[in-house]
Amino acid sequence: MSQRTFSIIKPDAVRKGHTAAILAEIEKAGFKIVSIKRLSISKAQAEGFYHVHAARPFFGELTEFMSSGPIFPMVLEKENAIADFRTLMGATNPAQAEEGTIRKKFAASIGENAIHGSDAEDTAAFEIGYFFAGIELK
Ligand code: CMP
Repeated sequence: MSQRTFSIIKPDAVRKGHTAAILAEIEKAGFKIVSIKRLSISKAQAEGFYHVHAARPFFGELTEFMSSGPIFPMVLEKENAIADFRTLMGATNPAQAEEGTIRKKFAASIGENAIHGSDAEDTAAFEIGYFFAGIELK
């Protein structure tokens, strides 16, 4: 059954000019881009998005980074989209990411790791709703 997931091209990848190359990888892997936009978020908005990580030691660094420049949030659709997209991204730490994954190709470090993808159905639903209105998701 077709499933939706949520992704963000992060500020490091946008700054380096990797947006189009990352979108090409995503489409080549069979994902349909349902909705996408470019915007900059405040630190408070990044804190809301990453609220599940609020107690982590890297929370300040993460939210500072995510509000440091433009990002491309997007909604993607495919069979088994959530798990397949995590495979396509590779490990959170690019040093551990498999050859051919987006993080292996484009990420510099565990913090500046080029791309985000939802880890489960409930987080995908929250994350899609955080950035997109229903009218943008037809
Ligand atoms: P993401 O999938 O967007 O969700 C949480 C993010 O926290 C993760 O990607 C990493 O970029 C970031 N993160 C995880 N561990 C660390 C760490 N040790 N230091 C800095 N950032 C981290």
